[in-house]
Amino acid sequence: MKFYITTPVYYANDVPHIGHSYTTLVSDVIARWKRLNGFDVFFLTGTDEHGAKIATVASGKNKTPQDLCDEMSARFKEMWKLLNISYTKFIRTTEQKHFISVERIVKILFEKDFIFKKKYEGLYCLECEKFYSQKDLDESGNCPFHKTSPVIQSEENYFFRLSSFQTELLERISDPNHKEYIEIQPEERRNEIIGKLKLGLEDISFSRTTVEWGIPLPFDSKQTVYVWVDALINYITGVGYITDEAKFQKYWPADMHLMAKDILWFHSIIWPAILMAVKLPLPKKIYSHGFFTINGDKMSKSLGNVISPSELVDKYGVDATRYLTVTLIPFGPDGDISWRELTSKYNTDLANNLGNLVSRTIKMIEKYFNSQLPQSTINLQLAKEVAVILKEDFADSIDNMQFHRAAEVLQNVITIVNKQIEIDSPWKLVKVDIEKLSSCTSSYLQAIGIVVMYLLPFMPTLSEKIWDMIGGVGNINEIAKKYFADMIIPENGFLVPQIKLNAMEILFPRIEK
Ligand code: MSP
Repeated sequence: MKFYITTPVYYANDVPHIGHSYTTLVSDVIARWKRLNGFDVFFLTGTDEHGAKIATVASGKNKTPQDLCDEMSARFKEMWKLLNISYTKFIRTTEQKHFISVERIVKILFEKDFIFKKKYEGLYCLECEKFYSQKDLDESGNCPFHKTSPVIQSEENYFFRLSSFQTELLERISDPNHKEYIEIQPEERRNEIIGKLKLGLEDISFSRTTVEWGIPLPFDSKQTVYVWVDALINYITGVGYITDEAKFQKYWPADMHLMAKDILWFHSIIWPAILMAVKLPLPKKIYSHGFFTINGDKMSKSLGNVISPSELVDKYGVDATRYLTVTLIPFGPDGDISWRELTSKYNTDLANNLGNLVSRTIKMIEKYFNSQLPQSTINLQLAKEVAVILKEDFADSIDNMQFHRAAEVLQNVITIVNKQIEIDSPWKLVKVDIEKLSSCTSSYLQAIGIVVMYLLPFMPTLSEKIWDMIGGVGNINEIAKKYFADMIIPENGFLVPQIKLNAMEILFPRIEK
C-alpha cells in the first residue's frame, strides 16, 4: 500500500521559521507513523523559487534570484536535517524536471483551450502572489493576511477558465460518495470552501508579462507562468510526472496535501481544476491547520517575534522540539505558543513523566539488582494494560490529526506506570520481597518497551536510545512494524529476559522557567 504526503513548497525568499517547521513536522510524524504501519510512503517537501516576491527580495539583497534560492533552499534543507525530517524528496521549482512538467501541463491546457488571453487590471498582493477583489480585502483595503496594501497591476495575460469547473468541483468536494471525492478538513474550512464555491468562480490569471523570474509559456515566451500554477505542479513533478512514468503511476494521486489555512483555496479549487482539465486523478485529502501566534501576536519580522526552529532545538533538543511543536496546540484552529508554555509542557510531559519513568526504573535495577535484572521474572501485566489503551486510542488520534490527543494518550499510560511504581513502592519491597520486586521492575520495563514504539514518530532518536537502555531486542523500527501489523506481544515481551544495563544519561534535564 502506498501513501503519498506533501507539505507546501515554501517560498525561498527567507529562512524557515516555526510555522514552516510545524507543517513539515506534522507531515513527518504522519509519514513515520504510516511507514511503521506498513505503508510505502513518499514524502515530498521543497521550495517555491519563482515569482515577483523572490525576484524583489533578491534584488534588494543585490543577489540574483537563483543565488538567493540556492542559499535559502540550502537553509531549508539544513533545518529539515536538524529536525530529522524523513522526506523522500526535496523538490526545488527551479529544477529542470519541474520545467518539463510545467511546460507539459501548460501546453495541454493551451491546446484544449483552457487558457485564453485578456487584458486585466487588478489589485495584487505581492506577499500572497495573488490578485484580490475589493470585497476580499479587509476594512482598510489591505490584504487580510499580510495587512499590506495591494498594488494595481495592469497587464495583458493568459487566463485559466476556472469558472467552467464550478459544478464539477462542487460535486467532488461535497459528495463523499463521488468516485473522485476530495476530502477537505477541518469541517469548518471545508464548509467555507463550499460556501465560497457556490458563489461562483472567476477565471484566474495564468501568466505574467512583468515577472521575468519564472517559467516562460511554451507558446508565448514574453510571458511567464503564474507562480502559483508553477508551484502547485510540484506535487506531480515530485513523483515523476513525465520523467518517471512508473513512479508517477505508483504514487499519484497524493493521499494527503498538508498546509495552513492561508493557501487552502489554491489547493482545494485551483489545483483540482488544473488536474481535471488535464485529466489527471485528484488528490484524496487536503488538510489545513491554523496559524501559530506568539504570545497572542502574529509572527512577523517587523514585530521581531519570529521564532526559529533551531532556537527550540538549542533549548529542548531535537526530539523534544519535534514532540512539543506537533503536540502543543490542537491541529486545525489557530494556536498561540509561548516559551513559557513550551517549557512547561517539556517539564511536565518529558522531564517529569517520561524521563522520570525511564530513569527511576533503570536506577532500581542498578541499585537493587546490581544492574542486572534476573531472567526468571518476566511480568507483562502492565505492558498488556498499556497496550490495550494505546491500541484503542493512539492510532485513532493520529488518523484524526489529533496529535495533541495522541500525546495525551501516551502521557496517560506513562502516568499509569508511574502510579503503579508508587503503589508497589519498590523501596519497601526491597526489604521484604525481592522476588516480587524483581517481577514489578520487569513489568515497568516491559511497559516502557510498548510506550517507546508509539513514541517513534515523534521522537525517533530518543525512542531508539531508550529502547537500547532498557534492553530492547533488535531494531526498534522493525520490531514496531511487526507489532503494529499483528498486535501480538511476544511471550517474553520485547526485552531480553536478562537485562544488563549501562549507566544512563539524563534524557530530559529539567528546564527552569
Ligand atoms: N509557496 C507557497 C506555497 C506553494 S504550495 C504549492 C507559500 N509558501 S510559504 O512559505 O508562505 O508557506 C506557507 C505555509 O507555511 C503555510 O501554508 C503553512 O504551512 C506554513 N506557515 C507559515 N507561517 C505559519 C504560521 N504562522 N503558522 C502555521 N503555519 C505557517 O505559501
